[in-house]
Amino acid sequence: MHIKLGLIGFGNVLRAFAELLQFKAPIIERDYDIQFSVVGISTHSHGTAIDPNGLDLRAALTIEALGELHHGEPLFDTFDFIEKCPADVMLEATWLDPKTGQPATDYVGASLEMGKHVVTANKGPVAFAHSELTRLARERNLGFFYESTVMDGVPIHSMRREGLLAVDVLKIRGVLNSTTNYILTRLQQGISMEEAIRDAQNIGVAETDPSNDIDGWDASIKIAILANTFMDADLRPIDVERTGIRNVTMEQAQAAHRVGKGLKLLCEAYREGSEVKARVQPMPLDSSDPLSLLEGTNTGFVVVTDILNRIVVMGGDSGPDTTAYGMLVDAINIARGRRSW
Ligand SMILES: NC(=O)c1ccc[n+]([C@@H]2O[C@H](COP(=O)([O-])OP(=O)(O)OC[C@H]3O[C@@H](n4cnc5c(N)ncnc54)[C@H](OP(=O)(O)O)[C@@H]3O)[C@@H](O)[C@H]2O)c1
Repeated sequence: MHIKLGLIGFGNVLRAFAELLQFKAPIIERDYDIQFSVVGISTHSHGTAIDPNGLDLRAALTIEALGELHHGEPLFDTFDFIEKCPADVMLEATWLDPKTGQPATDYVGASLEMGKHVVTANKGPVAFAHSELTRLARERNLGFFYESTVMDGVPIHSMRREGLLAVDVLKIRGVLNSTTNYILTRLQQGISMEEAIRDAQNIGVAETDPSNDIDGWDASIKIAILANTFMDADLRPIDVERTGIRNVTMEQAQAAHRVGKGLKLLCEAYREGSEVKARVQPMPLDSSDPLSLLEGTNTGFVVVTDILNRIVVMGGDSGPDTTAYGMLVDAINIARGRRSW
């Protein structure tokens, strides 16, 4: 079976995807009888290319201006690309505006409207429009997959989709933001907040402006995603009660450590009557709590259901490669006829 892919964005993640696709092509064909080809790539400032016969990925990874590989009429913008790209599946990994979820949410919506399956690694569409986009995908019998949005390639959404059927998810507790977990670990080791942030920037886990992590926005987006996908909630990041780690001190982290606790930026989604609520706040966790074992850049969460009492998921070593892997698995599942709803 031949499946044509269109890439919206060609930064760290989708470049890693292009490499992984070439590396894994023989095993995907052998085990699943699927041949993928990339028929279009769109970027913000590095050009856009469509080739219905399949783009040369080696060339796409090496040239500066993708337009050199384009075959066909000129393209005006990303929506024009989405319309004209002859792909079965669009893979979206563009920039995220954490306050609005755009422009990715509109790119995903437009792709589904045009009858194309979607895989996204972008948290925006799932945190801001999960129910609308899922409804759209269901109406058109399309796949809308987002495995890499939380914990990168760790298969958490497929666990919910395929393995946690007919259960009530009662509660989720997690340490979901690796930057703040790294910073809190460094505070506990006797490093000041300023130094810990600089360290996190030096090893590439914190951005130049770290406020999105420090103020708990990224954690709020991720717990909103888990509440929406695991607990059928319809939360936006703004609905999450949020306290970041900006005011946490080295003394507080060390005091918790001295009494055997680990200070974590705890994300929780829970049921209160018929409502699902979520909050993010720094919290000292007992050593008996599996989340207290998550040090440095490791992340994880605990799901409590009415049947399986406690499922613990932990991961680490995340980055563009593992994110690309989650997107590849989503694309294979779409090709195998799986649907996300
Ligand atoms: N990096 C990770 O490990 C990781 C992990 C999980 C999730 N994610 C998510 O994956 C997404 C991509 O991450 P990344 O690290 O690959 O980002 P990146 O390196 O900044 O790449 C973003 C890509 O999107 C393109 N782009 C930006 N705005 C666009 C627009 N309006 N229309 C079309 N293309 C646009 C950029 O074009 P130019 O090339 O012209 O700049 C670039 O190719 C983000 O939403 C991120 O949160 C990333």
